[in-house]
Amino acid sequence: MDTSVTMEKIVSLAKRRGFVFQSSEIYGGQAGAWDYGPMGVELKNRIARFWWKEMTQLHDDIVGLDAAILMHPKVWEASGHVENFTDPLVDCKKCKQRFRADQIDPAKLAKKECPECGGELTDTRKFNLMFKTNIGPVDDGSGLIYLRPETAQGIYVNYKNIIQSNRMKIPFGIAQVGKAFRNEIVTKNFIFRTCEFEQMEMQFFVHPGEDVKWFDYWREQRWAYYQKLGIRMNKLRWHQHGPDELAHYAKDAYDIEYEFPMGFKELEGVHNRTNFDLTRHQQFSGRDLQYIDQENGNERYIPFIIETSAGLTRQLLMALCDAYEDQKVADKGTDDDWRTVLHFHPTLAPITVAVLPLMKKDGLAELAQDIRGELKEEFATDYDQGGAIGRRYRRQDEVGTPFCITVDYQTKEDNSVTLRFRDSMEQIRVPRTELESTIKKAIKNYKRA
Ligand code: GAP
Repeated sequence: MDTSVTMEKIVSLAKRRGFVFQSSEIYGGQAGAWDYGPMGVELKNRIARFWWKEMTQLHDDIVGLDAAILMHPKVWEASGHVENFTDPLVDCKKCKQRFRADQIDPAKLAKKECPECGGELTDTRKFNLMFKTNIGPVDDGSGLIYLRPETAQGIYVNYKNIIQSNRMKIPFGIAQVGKAFRNEIVTKNFIFRTCEFEQMEMQFFVHPGEDVKWFDYWREQRWAYYQKLGIRMNKLRWHQHGPDELAHYAKDAYDIEYEFPMGFKELEGVHNRTNFDLTRHQQFSGRDLQYIDQENGNERYIPFIIETSAGLTRQLLMALCDAYEDQKVADKGTDDDWRTVLHFHPTLAPITVAVLPLMKKDGLAELAQDIRGELKEEFATDYDQGGAIGRRYRRQDEVGTPFCITVDYQTKEDNSVTLRFRDSMEQIRVPRTELESTIKKAIKNYKRA
């Protein structure tokens, strides 16, 4: 059996087990958009919660925000997105396909030759990635409004509000999770690059002379986060942006890249945005956006910003790819020799504990339901009584459930159950009264083999 992790396998499992569905599938699908099913929404929420805890609970100097997606159009003029947030685009006059010019073989681009059909390409033109729509009753262009292409700007325009309302002192950060929209030309590779996606961004405001120190600090912090998330660290690497890759706002930038099935690709960016954004917003809004440092002789300055910008939906794809394994578990020469297992960190797993009665009859189903009822205040649980127990374990392995509890005839006698661990498939006997503490301890001490 081919045990490599391919995008085809991930897409197939994601659909089969309710992680991710194609948007509007019954109408043939909508490119660039995906729907998150029962398992997917749980996984996405858990990643977001993990990140949120990391930022706001474990860092005393970071607070949260949830800004609106629709913002005043001047925000995007000030931020430089109207002018600079573009991809170079070419169209094929023959097959009508559209390409990013920087992703075509330069020799073909020079000859204006379509990489797909050999037809003639148009000249390269700038294509702005922001989605435009209209607000208000009249559709004459006066109500032009954009769907935000990044969550960061919502933080910048609220930075003074937050200083005033929460008495924040520099250095401090503001964290936000939310949707972003980009009219991406190329949306292949499943949910890797989509037109609608979610970001988890944190903007850290610092004294101008201290930006390099904080930039290094945040690079370290972001690397450590993935270790805590249980990701295989040999699948991650740093990539520093060269001068021609730097965004219009950045002085220095590093990406953390993950080795997806299609190769190493950007997972998140750590950017030194200098005082570019706040200076521009001060200029365009006419508001004074200087920080007044009352503890240092009322020194006034526009803070520098260190940004950590991660894709939530992209992290979900990473979590799936990193967890996936086709594993040989027996040698009988049948399909049952193999299992597909997702080795999620238990904190991320959509279901933490599945309760399975060995049989439906003899009161075992009722007993199992009762145990489930006891555990569901503490854990995300599932209950499954259909089919052979081995098949039920496999079904749970496939969605990454770290713990299965089997209720059998012995349970009726001595109130003990079987606790099965997903990764090792080890089974131990545990008194019902100790289940909660045993599972909590196993979650705390979890290490992927
Ligand atoms: N505020 C800075 C910013 O938005 P970015 O590098 O353009 O920087 C940050 O995006 C992260 O957002 C990326 O590292 C990626 O994880 C995610 N992201 C960006 N575009 C995306 C897209 N079209 N689909 C899915 N995720 C995307």
